[in-house]
Amino acid sequence: MNAATTSTLNPLERVVLPSHLKRLILTGFMGAGKSTVGRLLASRTGWTFLDLDTHLERRAGATIPQLFARLGETRFRRLESTALASALASTNTILALGGGTPEELTNRLLIEQTPGTFTIFLDAPFPTLFDRCMLQDIARPVLQDPAAAELRFAHRHPLYTRLAQFVVDTADLTPEVTVKAILAALNQPGNSHS
Ligand code: S3P
Repeated sequence: MNAATTSTLNPLERVVLPSHLKRLILTGFMGAGKSTVGRLLASRTGWTFLDLDTHLERRAGATIPQLFARLGETRFRRLESTALASALASTNTILALGGGTPEELTNRLLIEQTPGTFTIFLDAPFPTLFDRCMLQDIARPVLQDPAAAELRFAHRHPLYTRLAQFVVDTADLTPEVTVKAILAALNQPGNSHS
């Protein structure tokens, strides 16, 4: 889809989302732009932005790197699942997942079985995502080994795709154009019914 030309939405207008929707979920690998796009979507719709990593950190009273170091990844993933279940209770919310959240079957089922949820996959090739992450000042334990991170990306890619009702290739898009593409898709009759 050519996101730049398919939307006629005015970027200053408040967007009203279809009434059956209760939350939008943004998924994708680290560096996909989930938080940036999520904040922009929240400001366009008037909905609340919730970042699952931040939600988890607040609940646990520790940062993501501290949790990885203290608990190891398996226990971190358990905390992430309980944080997800709690986050899914919020309505009128734009929820940005962690890059690894869809790896757990429990998490995918939770998302798929929560009514009023529309999931969007922000896609891009691994080298683009990796370069974007290198420019960000965010500590990400699973990026310490780039080769292992690329394997994770390959494993997760089909999971992100299957979970989402809409996929945007963000490689050549600004966050603003990505938001435009998402809002246009949500306002296509029938498109946001899962
Ligand atoms: C992770 C992604 C991070 C965070 C944690 C693990 C992953 O979230 O949950 O560092 O396994 O991909 P972002 O995708 O928001 O960076």
